[in-house]
Amino acid sequence: MRSFGIWFGLWVALMGFGECQGEKPNVIVILVDDLGYADLGVQGSDVVKSPHIDKLAKDGVILTDGYAPHNFCGPSRSALFAGIWPFRIGAQFNAPKDYWDNLVGLPLGYKTIPETMQEAGYQTYCVGKWHLGYTPEHHPKNRGYNGFFGFLKGSWNYRLSKMYDEQLDDYDYIYRGFKRVGGIKYITDNFTDAAIGYIARSNRLGKPFFLYLSYNSPHAPIISLKEDLDPEVPANRRNYVGMIKSLDRGVEKIRSYLEKLGIAENTVIMFSSDNGGHKHGAINEPLRDMKGSYYEGGLRVPWFITWPGTLQPGRTFTKLATHMDIYPTLENLAQVPEGMKNPTLVGVDLLPYLRKVGQSTPEASGATHPFLYFGGPAASGKSVGMIRQGRWKLVIINENDNSENELYDLRADLSETTDLSDDRPGKATRLFDIWTEWNSENILPVYGRSRAKNPLLLELSVVADEVVITPGVPISFEAAGSSADGETVTYFWETFIPVRVDEATYRDVWTDGVTSTSRTEDSISITYSNPGDYIVRVTIQTERWQLWEDVQIQVVPE
Ligand SMILES: *[C@@H]1O[C@H](CO)[C@@H](O)[C@H](O)[C@H]1NC(C)=O
Repeated sequence: MRSFGIWFGLWVALMGFGECQGEKPNVIVILVDDLGYADLGVQGSDVVKSPHIDKLAKDGVILTDGYAPHNFCGPSRSALFAGIWPFRIGAQFNAPKDYWDNLVGLPLGYKTIPETMQEAGYQTYCVGKWHLGYTPEHHPKNRGYNGFFGFLKGSWNYRLSKMYDEQLDDYDYIYRGFKRVGGIKYITDNFTDAAIGYIARSNRLGKPFFLYLSYNSPHAPIISLKEDLDPEVPANRRNYVGMIKSLDRGVEKIRSYLEKLGIAENTVIMFSSDNGGHKHGAINEPLRDMKGSYYEGGLRVPWFITWPGTLQPGRTFTKLATHMDIYPTLENLAQVPEGMKNPTLVGVDLLPYLRKVGQSTPEASGATHPFLYFGGPAASGKSVGMIRQGRWKLVIINENDNSENELYDLRADLSETTDLSDDRPGKATRLFDIWTEWNSENILPVYGRSRAKNPLLLELSVVADEVVITPGVPISFEAAGSSADGETVTYFWETFIPVRVDEATYRDVWTDGVTSTSRTEDSISITYSNPGDYIVRVTIQTERWQLWEDVQIQVVPE
Protein backbone atom coordinates (compact mmCIF):
# COMPACT_ATOMS: atom_id res chain seq x y z
CA MET A 1 0.00 0.00 0.00
CA ARG A 2 2.71 2.40 1.01
CA SER A 3 4.79 1.96 -2.14
CA PHE A 4 1.61 2.36 -4.17
CA GLY A 5 1.11 5.69 -2.41
CA ILE A 6 4.66 6.79 -3.17
CA TRP A 7 4.48 5.88 -6.86
CA PHE A 8 1.06 7.35 -7.24
CA GLY A 9 2.29 10.49 -5.51
CA LEU A 10 5.26 10.69 -7.84
CA TRP A 11 3.00 10.26 -10.82
CA VAL A 12 0.74 13.00 -9.54
CA ALA A 13 3.74 15.27 -9.00
CA LEU A 14 4.96 14.62 -12.55
CA MET A 15 1.50 15.16 -13.97
CA GLY A 16 1.43 18.47 -12.15
CA PHE A 17 -2.16 18.19 -10.98
CA GLY A 18 -3.66 21.49 -10.03
CA GLU A 19 -0.70 23.58 -11.19
CA CYS A 20 -3.06 25.76 -13.19
CA GLN A 21 -4.89 26.73 -10.00
CA GLY A 22 -1.88 28.63 -8.71
CA GLU A 23 0.66 27.94 -6.06
CA LYS A 24 -0.32 25.50 -3.35
CA PRO A 25 -0.23 27.22 0.04
CA ASN A 26 1.87 25.96 2.91
CA VAL A 27 -0.11 24.78 5.90
CA ILE A 28 0.85 24.88 9.58
CA VAL A 29 -1.44 23.19 12.10
CA ILE A 30 -0.40 24.27 15.60
CA LEU A 31 -2.13 22.00 18.08
CA VAL A 32 -1.46 22.82 21.72
CA ASP A 33 -2.32 20.48 24.55
CA ASP A 34 -5.08 20.89 27.17
CA LEU A 35 -5.20 24.69 26.84
CA GLY A 36 -7.96 26.34 28.89
CA TYR A 37 -10.71 27.95 26.82
CA ALA A 38 -10.17 31.25 28.64
CA ASP A 39 -6.37 31.09 28.79
CA LEU A 40 -5.42 33.47 25.99
CA GLY A 41 -5.73 37.25 25.84
CA VAL A 42 -7.95 36.97 22.76
CA GLN A 43 -10.21 34.55 24.64
CA GLY A 44 -10.76 37.09 27.38
CA SER A 45 -8.04 36.38 29.94
CA ASP A 46 -6.63 39.33 31.83
CA VAL A 47 -3.96 37.20 33.49
CA VAL A 48 -2.51 35.34 30.51
CA LYS A 49 -0.57 37.56 28.14
CA SER A 50 -0.39 36.11 24.65
CA PRO A 51 0.09 39.07 22.29
CA HIS A 52 1.39 37.04 19.35
CA ILE A 53 -1.25 34.32 19.48
CA ASP A 54 -3.84 37.10 19.86
CA LYS A 55 -2.43 38.78 16.77
CA LEU A 56 -2.52 35.51 14.84
CA ALA A 57 -6.21 35.17 15.76
CA LYS A 58 -7.05 38.77 14.86
CA ASP A 59 -5.20 38.54 11.55
CA GLY A 60 -7.58 35.74 10.59
CA VAL A 61 -10.87 34.12 11.44
CA ILE A 62 -11.82 33.16 15.00
CA LEU A 63 -14.05 30.08 15.22
CA THR A 64 -16.35 30.44 18.21
CA ASP A 65 -18.04 27.05 17.93
CA GLY A 66 -15.08 24.85 17.12
CA TYR A 67 -14.88 21.42 18.72
CA ALA A 68 -12.17 18.87 19.28
CA PRO A 69 -13.46 15.44 18.19
CA HIS A 70 -12.96 13.96 21.66
CA ASN A 71 -12.49 15.26 25.19
CA PHE A 72 -8.94 13.92 25.62
CA CYS A 73 -5.71 13.74 23.64
CA GLY A 74 -5.12 10.49 21.74
CA PRO A 75 -8.62 9.96 20.32
CA SER A 76 -8.91 13.62 19.43
CA ARG A 77 -5.68 13.46 17.42
CA SER A 78 -6.59 10.16 15.76
CA ALA A 79 -9.85 11.72 14.60
CA LEU A 80 -8.16 14.85 13.33
CA PHE A 81 -5.58 12.95 11.28
CA ALA A 82 -7.85 10.19 9.96
CA GLY A 83 -10.78 12.58 9.48
CA ILE A 84 -13.24 10.23 11.13
CA TRP A 85 -14.90 9.86 14.56
CA PRO A 86 -12.62 8.03 17.01
CA PHE A 87 -15.60 5.87 18.04
CA ARG A 88 -16.00 4.60 14.46
CA ILE A 89 -12.47 3.24 14.35
CA GLY A 90 -12.11 1.89 17.89
CA ALA A 91 -9.65 4.65 18.85
CA GLN A 92 -11.62 6.11 21.75
CA PHE A 93 -8.86 5.72 24.35
CA ASN A 94 -5.37 7.04 24.81
CA ALA A 95 -2.69 4.65 23.61
CA PRO A 96 -1.75 2.51 26.65
CA LYS A 97 1.97 1.90 27.11
CA ASP A 98 1.88 -1.44 25.27
CA TYR A 99 4.90 -0.46 23.25
CA TRP A 100 5.00 -3.64 21.18
CA ASP A 101 1.35 -3.76 20.17
CA ASN A 102 0.62 -2.79 16.59
CA LEU A 103 -3.05 -2.32 17.41
CA VAL A 104 -2.29 0.53 19.79
CA GLY A 105 -2.51 3.93 18.12
CA LEU A 106 -4.30 5.50 15.18
CA PRO A 107 -5.43 2.28 13.43
CA LEU A 108 -3.04 1.37 10.63
CA GLY A 109 -5.68 0.87 7.95
CA TYR A 110 -6.66 4.55 7.86
CA LYS A 111 -5.10 7.07 5.53
CA THR A 112 -3.81 10.23 7.22
CA ILE A 113 -3.64 13.93 6.39
CA PRO A 114 0.14 13.92 5.76
CA GLU A 115 -0.19 10.93 3.40
CA THR A 116 -2.67 12.94 1.36
CA MET A 117 -0.43 16.01 1.49
CA GLN A 118 2.60 13.99 0.34
CA GLU A 119 0.63 12.73 -2.65
CA ALA A 120 -0.26 16.32 -3.44
CA GLY A 121 3.46 17.21 -3.61
CA TYR A 122 4.01 18.55 -0.10
CA GLN A 123 6.90 18.06 2.29
CA THR A 124 5.34 16.94 5.57
CA TYR A 125 6.74 17.41 9.06
CA CYS A 126 5.62 16.46 12.54
CA VAL A 127 7.15 18.31 15.47
CA GLY A 128 6.26 17.62 19.10
CA LYS A 129 3.99 15.14 20.80
CA TRP A 130 2.86 12.13 18.77
CA HIS A 131 0.72 9.88 21.01
CA LEU A 132 -0.68 7.89 18.08
CA GLY A 133 1.19 4.59 18.54
CA TYR A 134 4.69 3.30 19.32
CA THR A 135 5.65 0.44 16.99
CA PRO A 136 7.78 1.18 13.91
CA GLU A 137 4.64 0.90 11.75
CA HIS A 138 3.05 3.66 13.80
CA HIS A 139 6.07 5.94 13.76
CA PRO A 140 5.34 9.36 12.22
CA LYS A 141 7.84 8.61 9.44
CA ASN A 142 5.69 5.61 8.49
CA ARG A 143 2.40 7.51 8.76
CA GLY A 144 3.09 10.13 6.12
CA TYR A 145 5.70 12.48 7.54
CA ASN A 146 9.02 13.24 5.83
CA GLY A 147 10.42 14.56 9.09
CA PHE A 148 9.78 14.02 12.80
CA PHE A 149 11.22 15.73 15.84
CA GLY A 150 9.52 14.95 19.13
CA PHE A 151 8.40 12.18 21.46
CA LEU A 152 6.02 9.28 21.00
CA LYS A 153 4.16 9.31 24.30
CA GLY A 154 1.40 11.51 25.70
CA SER A 155 3.41 13.72 28.00
CA TRP A 156 6.96 14.75 28.75
CA ASN A 157 9.04 16.56 31.30
CA TYR A 158 9.75 19.84 29.51
CA ARG A 159 13.39 20.08 30.51
CA LEU A 160 14.57 16.53 29.81
CA SER A 161 16.02 14.76 26.79
CA LYS A 162 15.27 11.34 28.26
CA MET A 163 12.85 10.03 30.85
CA TYR A 164 12.86 6.77 32.75
CA ASP A 165 9.91 4.56 31.82
CA GLU A 166 8.96 1.71 34.16
CA GLN A 167 7.21 -0.25 31.48
CA LEU A 168 10.26 -0.16 29.24
CA ASP A 169 12.58 -0.66 32.21
CA ASP A 170 14.72 1.80 30.31
CA TYR A 171 14.76 5.39 29.20
CA ASP A 172 12.56 6.93 26.58
CA TYR A 173 13.86 9.74 24.42
CA ILE A 174 13.23 12.70 22.19
CA TYR A 175 13.78 11.60 18.60
CA ARG A 176 14.74 13.17 15.32
CA GLY A 177 13.38 10.66 12.84
CA PHE A 178 14.33 7.32 14.47
CA LYS A 179 17.43 8.73 16.17
CA ARG A 180 17.63 9.87 19.75
CA VAL A 181 18.72 13.41 20.48
CA GLY A 182 20.13 14.94 23.64
CA GLY A 183 20.62 18.52 24.71
CA ILE A 184 17.00 19.55 25.23
CA LYS A 185 16.80 22.87 27.06
CA TYR A 186 13.07 23.42 27.12
CA ILE A 187 10.98 21.39 24.69
CA THR A 188 8.60 24.17 23.67
CA ASP A 189 11.53 26.27 22.44
CA ASN A 190 13.30 23.24 20.96
CA PHE A 191 10.10 22.36 19.06
CA THR A 192 9.88 25.90 17.70
CA ASP A 193 13.48 25.69 16.49
CA ALA A 194 12.90 22.27 14.91
CA ALA A 195 9.80 23.61 13.13
CA ILE A 196 11.82 26.51 11.74
CA GLY A 197 14.49 24.06 10.58
CA TYR A 198 11.87 22.08 8.66
CA ILE A 199 10.37 25.22 7.09
CA ALA A 200 13.89 26.10 5.96
CA ARG A 201 14.34 22.61 4.51
CA SER A 202 11.17 22.73 2.42
CA ASN A 203 12.11 26.21 1.26
CA ARG A 204 15.47 24.88 0.05
CA LEU A 205 13.67 22.05 -1.73
CA GLY A 206 11.28 24.53 -3.34
CA LYS A 207 8.23 22.55 -2.23
CA PRO A 208 5.12 23.51 -0.29
CA PHE A 209 5.05 22.14 3.24
CA PHE A 210 2.56 20.77 5.72
CA LEU A 211 3.79 21.22 9.28
CA TYR A 212 2.03 19.67 12.27
CA LEU A 213 3.43 21.57 15.22
CA SER A 214 2.19 19.61 18.19
CA TYR A 215 3.32 21.61 21.21
CA ASN A 216 2.93 19.58 24.40
CA SER A 217 2.41 22.78 26.41
CA PRO A 218 0.48 23.46 28.66
CA HIS A 219 -0.18 19.76 29.43
CA ALA A 220 0.97 18.53 32.86
CA PRO A 221 3.59 18.42 34.34
CA ILE A 222 3.35 22.18 34.83
CA ILE A 223 6.95 23.26 34.23
CA SER A 224 7.97 26.58 32.76
CA LEU A 225 11.26 28.37 32.27
CA LYS A 226 12.30 30.59 35.15
CA GLU A 227 12.56 33.60 32.85
CA ASP A 228 8.92 33.12 31.80
CA LEU A 229 7.56 33.47 35.34
CA ASP A 230 5.64 36.72 35.78
CA PRO A 231 5.58 37.93 39.42
CA GLU A 232 2.29 39.73 38.75
CA VAL A 233 0.54 36.41 38.08
CA PRO A 234 -0.90 34.75 41.22
CA ALA A 235 1.55 32.12 42.48
CA ASN A 236 -0.80 29.18 41.93
CA ARG A 237 -1.02 29.95 38.19
CA ARG A 238 2.43 31.39 37.58
CA ASN A 239 4.03 28.28 36.10
CA TYR A 240 1.03 27.47 33.91
CA VAL A 241 0.90 31.02 32.54
CA GLY A 242 4.67 30.87 31.95
CA MET A 243 4.16 27.82 29.74
CA ILE A 244 1.77 29.78 27.53
CA LYS A 245 4.36 32.53 27.27
CA SER A 246 6.74 30.03 25.64
CA LEU A 247 3.99 29.06 23.17
CA ASP A 248 3.42 32.71 22.36
CA ARG A 249 7.14 33.17 21.74
CA GLY A 250 7.05 30.17 19.38
CA VAL A 251 4.18 31.60 17.33
CA GLU A 252 6.03 34.90 17.04
CA LYS A 253 9.27 33.24 15.94
CA ILE A 254 7.54 31.16 13.29
CA ARG A 255 5.55 34.03 11.85
CA SER A 256 8.67 36.24 11.74
CA TYR A 257 10.52 33.48 9.93
CA LEU A 258 7.74 33.13 7.34
CA GLU A 259 7.92 36.91 6.81
CA LYS A 260 11.68 36.72 6.41
CA LEU A 261 11.33 34.04 3.73
CA GLY A 262 8.59 36.07 2.05
CA ILE A 263 6.05 33.22 2.29
CA ALA A 264 3.70 34.52 5.02
CA GLU A 265 0.97 35.33 2.49
CA ASN A 266 1.15 31.85 1.06
CA THR A 267 0.93 30.08 4.41
CA VAL A 268 -2.27 29.07 6.17
CA ILE A 269 -1.86 28.79 9.95
CA MET A 270 -4.37 27.07 12.20
CA PHE A 271 -4.10 27.25 15.96
CA SER A 272 -6.17 25.11 18.32
CA SER A 273 -6.06 22.75 21.30
CA ASP A 274 -6.63 18.99 21.30
CA ASN A 275 -9.33 19.20 24.01
CA GLY A 276 -10.48 21.41 26.86
CA GLY A 277 -8.29 22.72 29.66
CA HIS A 278 -7.11 20.37 32.41
CA LYS A 279 -7.50 20.57 36.15
CA HIS A 280 -3.87 21.55 36.83
CA GLY A 281 -4.37 25.28 36.43
CA ALA A 282 -6.40 25.85 33.24
CA ILE A 283 -9.53 28.02 33.20
CA ASN A 284 -12.35 27.17 30.81
CA GLU A 285 -14.79 29.92 31.79
CA PRO A 286 -17.54 30.46 30.86
CA LEU A 287 -17.69 26.83 29.80
CA ARG A 288 -18.72 24.07 32.18
CA ASP A 289 -16.28 21.37 33.29
CA MET A 290 -12.86 20.32 31.92
CA LYS A 291 -10.85 17.90 29.78
CA GLY A 292 -12.55 14.48 29.83
CA SER A 293 -16.10 15.88 29.92
CA TYR A 294 -18.87 16.09 27.34
CA TYR A 295 -19.91 19.46 28.73
CA GLU A 296 -18.49 22.30 26.65
CA GLY A 297 -15.36 22.70 28.78
CA GLY A 298 -14.10 19.30 27.64
CA LEU A 299 -14.73 19.75 23.94
CA ARG A 300 -15.03 23.34 22.77
CA VAL A 301 -11.60 24.78 22.00
CA PRO A 302 -10.00 28.04 20.90
CA TRP A 303 -9.48 27.84 17.13
CA PHE A 304 -8.05 30.42 14.74
CA ILE A 305 -7.35 30.20 11.01
CA THR A 306 -5.15 32.81 9.40
CA TRP A 307 -4.33 33.18 5.71
CA PRO A 308 -3.08 36.71 5.07
CA GLY A 309 -4.39 38.27 1.89
CA THR A 310 -7.02 35.56 1.37
CA LEU A 311 -9.15 35.26 4.50
CA GLN A 312 -10.47 38.55 5.82
CA PRO A 313 -8.85 39.51 9.12
CA GLY A 314 -10.82 40.29 12.24
CA ARG A 315 -13.73 37.99 11.43
CA THR A 316 -15.65 35.64 13.66
CA PHE A 317 -17.04 32.36 12.39
CA THR A 318 -19.95 31.12 14.50
CA LYS A 319 -21.03 27.97 12.64
CA LEU A 320 -20.33 24.49 13.99
CA ALA A 321 -16.88 23.19 13.15
CA THR A 322 -14.83 20.18 14.26
CA HIS A 323 -11.18 19.28 13.84
CA MET A 324 -12.42 16.50 11.54
CA ASP A 325 -13.12 19.33 9.07
CA ILE A 326 -9.39 20.01 8.81
CA TYR A 327 -8.72 17.00 6.54
CA PRO A 328 -11.24 17.96 3.80
CA THR A 329 -10.23 21.61 4.13
CA LEU A 330 -6.59 20.68 3.51
CA GLU A 331 -7.57 18.51 0.53
CA ASN A 332 -9.04 21.67 -0.94
CA LEU A 333 -5.96 23.79 -0.10
CA ALA A 334 -3.67 21.14 -1.59
CA GLN A 335 -5.86 21.02 -4.73
CA VAL A 336 -6.43 17.27 -4.48
CA PRO A 337 -8.54 16.25 -7.49
CA GLU A 338 -12.03 14.90 -6.78
CA GLY A 339 -11.25 11.27 -7.61
CA MET A 340 -8.27 11.21 -5.27
CA LYS A 341 -9.98 12.54 -2.18
CA ASN A 342 -10.15 10.29 0.84
CA PRO A 343 -13.64 8.73 0.69
CA THR A 344 -13.90 7.95 4.42
CA LEU A 345 -13.87 11.54 5.71
CA VAL A 346 -16.83 12.72 7.79
CA GLY A 347 -16.02 16.44 8.03
CA VAL A 348 -16.75 19.32 5.67
CA ASP A 349 -14.43 21.57 3.74
CA LEU A 350 -14.52 24.84 5.70
CA LEU A 351 -12.80 26.95 3.07
CA PRO A 352 -15.90 28.05 1.09
CA TYR A 353 -17.49 29.15 4.35
CA LEU A 354 -14.39 30.87 5.68
CA ARG A 355 -13.93 32.80 2.45
CA LYS A 356 -17.43 34.17 2.86
CA VAL A 357 -17.69 35.01 6.55
CA GLY A 358 -19.71 38.15 7.00
CA GLN A 359 -21.39 37.89 3.57
CA SER A 360 -24.97 36.85 2.87
CA THR A 361 -24.37 34.27 0.14
CA PRO A 362 -26.09 30.86 0.33
CA GLU A 363 -22.86 29.22 1.47
CA ALA A 364 -22.40 31.84 4.15
CA SER A 365 -25.92 31.32 5.48
CA GLY A 366 -26.11 27.50 5.24
CA ALA A 367 -25.17 25.17 8.09
CA THR A 368 -21.77 23.48 8.04
CA HIS A 369 -23.06 20.52 10.07
CA PRO A 370 -26.70 19.71 10.72
CA PHE A 371 -25.46 17.76 13.75
CA LEU A 372 -22.20 17.20 15.60
CA TYR A 373 -21.86 13.87 17.38
CA PHE A 374 -19.61 12.76 20.22
CA GLY A 375 -19.22 9.71 22.41
CA GLY A 376 -20.39 6.16 22.19
CA PRO A 377 -19.21 2.76 23.36
CA ALA A 378 -17.16 2.65 26.52
CA ALA A 379 -16.80 6.38 26.80
CA SER A 380 -15.16 7.60 29.96
CA GLY A 381 -16.33 10.12 32.49
CA LYS A 382 -19.70 10.97 33.93
CA SER A 383 -21.45 11.21 30.59
CA VAL A 384 -21.10 9.01 27.50
CA GLY A 385 -21.54 11.56 24.76
CA MET A 386 -23.39 14.51 23.33
CA ILE A 387 -25.10 15.71 20.20
CA ARG A 388 -25.34 19.28 19.07
CA GLN A 389 -27.81 20.79 16.59
CA GLY A 390 -27.66 24.55 16.15
CA ARG A 391 -28.27 26.10 19.54
CA TRP A 392 -29.35 22.80 21.13
CA LYS A 393 -27.26 20.21 22.86
CA LEU A 394 -28.23 16.93 24.46
CA VAL A 395 -25.70 15.52 26.94
CA ILE A 396 -26.01 11.74 26.96
CA ILE A 397 -25.66 10.54 30.55
CA ASN A 398 -27.36 7.21 29.90
CA GLU A 399 -27.39 5.78 26.41
CA ASN A 400 -30.29 3.44 27.24
CA ASP A 401 -32.59 5.82 29.10
CA ASN A 402 -33.24 9.30 27.75
CA SER A 403 -34.92 10.45 30.95
CA GLU A 404 -31.47 10.85 32.52
CA ASN A 405 -30.09 12.95 29.66
CA GLU A 406 -29.77 16.72 29.76
CA LEU A 407 -30.86 19.31 27.20
CA TYR A 408 -29.22 22.73 27.00
CA ASP A 409 -29.84 25.83 24.93
CA LEU A 410 -26.28 27.00 24.32
CA ARG A 411 -27.33 30.32 22.83
CA ALA A 412 -29.11 31.31 26.03
CA ASP A 413 -27.03 29.24 28.43
CA LEU A 414 -23.47 28.69 27.26
CA SER A 415 -22.44 27.53 30.74
CA GLU A 416 -24.98 24.65 30.70
CA THR A 417 -26.59 25.54 34.00
CA THR A 418 -30.25 24.81 33.18
CA ASP A 419 -31.39 21.39 31.96
CA LEU A 420 -34.41 21.93 29.70
CA SER A 421 -35.21 18.28 28.98
CA ASP A 422 -38.46 18.40 31.01
CA ASP A 423 -39.58 21.61 29.26
CA ARG A 424 -38.73 20.39 25.75
CA PRO A 425 -39.23 16.60 25.82
CA GLY A 426 -39.85 16.44 22.05
CA LYS A 427 -36.53 18.11 21.27
CA ALA A 428 -34.70 15.84 23.72
CA THR A 429 -36.26 12.70 22.22
CA ARG A 430 -35.52 13.71 18.66
CA LEU A 431 -31.86 14.45 19.43
CA PHE A 432 -31.56 11.22 21.40
CA ASP A 433 -32.96 9.18 18.48
CA ILE A 434 -30.56 10.78 16.02
CA TRP A 435 -27.59 10.24 18.34
CA THR A 436 -28.64 6.61 18.95
CA GLU A 437 -28.79 5.91 15.25
CA TRP A 438 -25.35 7.44 14.75
CA ASN A 439 -24.03 5.50 17.73
CA SER A 440 -25.31 2.19 16.34
CA GLU A 441 -22.46 2.24 13.81
CA ASN A 442 -19.73 2.89 16.36
CA ILE A 443 -17.48 0.04 17.45
CA LEU A 444 -15.91 -1.11 20.70
CA PRO A 445 -12.41 0.10 21.54
CA VAL A 446 -9.58 -1.73 19.80
CA TYR A 447 -7.15 -0.77 22.60
CA GLY A 448 -7.12 0.87 25.98
CA ARG A 449 -9.59 0.48 28.82
CA SER A 450 -12.67 -1.63 28.02
CA ARG A 451 -10.90 -3.14 25.08
CA ALA A 452 -13.20 -5.69 23.49
CA LYS A 453 -12.23 -9.36 23.69
CA ASN A 454 -9.91 -10.29 20.88
CA PRO A 455 -11.74 -12.88 18.73
CA LEU A 456 -8.63 -14.26 16.99
CA LEU A 457 -7.09 -17.71 17.43
CA LEU A 458 -3.53 -18.60 16.44
CA GLU A 459 -1.77 -21.95 16.52
CA LEU A 460 1.84 -22.60 15.56
CA SER A 461 3.22 -25.97 14.55
CA VAL A 462 6.45 -25.14 16.40
CA VAL A 463 5.48 -25.78 19.97
CA ALA A 464 8.88 -25.89 21.68
CA ASP A 465 9.72 -22.71 23.52
CA GLU A 466 13.17 -22.67 22.07
CA VAL A 467 14.42 -23.91 18.69
CA VAL A 468 18.15 -24.47 18.18
CA ILE A 469 19.44 -24.44 14.59
CA THR A 470 22.67 -23.80 12.67
CA PRO A 471 23.31 -20.97 10.19
CA GLY A 472 22.21 -21.70 6.66
CA VAL A 473 19.76 -24.39 7.72
CA PRO A 474 16.21 -23.25 7.08
CA ILE A 475 13.63 -23.53 9.79
CA SER A 476 10.02 -23.86 8.76
CA PHE A 477 6.75 -24.14 10.57
CA GLU A 478 3.11 -23.56 9.99
CA ALA A 479 0.64 -21.20 11.54
CA ALA A 480 -3.12 -21.57 11.55
CA GLY A 481 -5.35 -18.72 12.54
CA SER A 482 -8.98 -17.85 12.44
CA SER A 483 -11.40 -15.20 13.55
CA ALA A 484 -14.47 -16.06 15.56
CA ASP A 485 -16.25 -13.24 13.73
CA GLY A 486 -15.45 -14.80 10.34
CA GLU A 487 -13.36 -11.84 9.23
CA THR A 488 -10.57 -12.42 6.70
CA VAL A 489 -7.28 -13.13 8.43
CA THR A 490 -3.91 -11.93 7.13
CA TYR A 491 -0.61 -13.44 8.31
CA PHE A 492 2.73 -11.84 8.60
CA TRP A 493 5.88 -12.51 10.51
CA GLU A 494 9.05 -10.76 11.46
CA THR A 495 12.29 -11.64 13.14
CA PHE A 496 14.02 -9.48 15.62
CA ILE A 497 16.84 -9.59 18.06
CA PRO A 498 15.51 -9.70 21.61
CA VAL A 499 17.05 -6.38 22.64
CA ARG A 500 14.25 -4.18 23.77
CA VAL A 501 15.84 -0.84 23.09
CA ASP A 502 18.89 -0.54 20.89
CA GLU A 503 21.48 1.98 22.09
CA ALA A 504 21.61 4.28 19.12
CA THR A 505 18.26 4.07 17.42
CA TYR A 506 14.59 3.78 18.14
CA ARG A 507 13.80 0.06 18.61
CA ASP A 508 15.18 -0.35 15.17
CA VAL A 509 16.47 -3.87 15.50
CA TRP A 510 14.28 -5.96 13.25
CA THR A 511 15.32 -8.75 10.88
CA ASP A 512 19.08 -8.83 11.24
CA GLY A 513 20.95 -11.82 9.87
CA VAL A 514 17.97 -13.38 8.14
CA THR A 515 17.60 -14.36 4.52
CA SER A 516 14.16 -15.31 3.47
CA THR A 517 10.72 -15.42 2.43
CA SER A 518 7.28 -14.02 2.37
CA ARG A 519 5.72 -12.02 5.19
CA THR A 520 2.15 -13.00 4.34
CA GLU A 521 2.11 -16.78 4.25
CA ASP A 522 0.98 -19.18 6.89
CA SER A 523 3.76 -21.61 6.06
CA ILE A 524 6.94 -19.90 7.13
CA SER A 525 10.51 -20.75 6.16
CA ILE A 526 13.42 -18.74 7.46
CA THR A 527 17.18 -19.06 7.04
CA TYR A 528 19.59 -17.36 9.41
CA SER A 529 23.12 -16.51 8.37
CA ASN A 530 24.54 -15.24 11.67
CA PRO A 531 24.67 -17.12 14.96
CA GLY A 532 22.72 -15.47 17.75
CA ASP A 533 19.39 -15.31 19.55
CA TYR A 534 16.33 -14.30 17.61
CA ILE A 535 12.62 -14.05 18.11
CA VAL A 536 10.22 -14.93 15.32
CA ARG A 537 6.91 -13.22 15.79
CA VAL A 538 4.01 -14.62 13.82
CA THR A 539 1.09 -12.28 13.64
CA ILE A 540 -2.43 -12.67 12.36
CA GLN A 541 -4.53 -9.65 11.79
CA THR A 542 -7.93 -8.56 10.59
CA GLU A 543 -8.93 -4.97 10.03
CA ARG A 544 -9.67 -4.56 13.74
CA TRP A 545 -7.75 -7.25 15.59
CA GLN A 546 -4.29 -8.60 15.90
CA LEU A 547 -2.72 -11.48 17.76
CA TRP A 548 0.80 -12.79 17.79
CA GLU A 549 2.93 -15.61 19.16
CA ASP A 550 6.68 -15.45 19.64
CA VAL A 551 9.05 -18.33 18.93
CA GLN A 552 12.58 -18.15 20.37
CA ILE A 553 15.27 -19.16 17.88
CA GLN A 554 18.83 -19.84 18.91
CA VAL A 555 21.22 -20.07 15.97
CA VAL A 556 24.45 -21.79 17.05
CA PRO A 557 27.76 -21.97 15.11
CA GLU A 558 28.41 -25.36 13.48
C1 LIG B 1 17.56 22.77 22.33
O1 LIG B 1 17.70 24.15 22.46
C2 LIG B 1 18.94 24.56 23.03
C3 LIG B 1 18.89 26.06 23.25
O2 LIG B 1 18.66 26.72 22.05
C4 LIG B 1 20.07 24.14 22.10
O3 LIG B 1 21.31 24.48 22.66
C5 LIG B 1 19.99 22.63 21.89
O4 LIG B 1 20.96 22.22 20.95
C6 LIG B 1 18.62 22.22 21.39
N1 LIG B 1 18.55 20.78 21.35
C7 LIG B 1 18.27 20.08 20.24
C8 LIG B 1 18.20 18.60 20.38
O5 LIG B 1 18.08 20.59 19.16
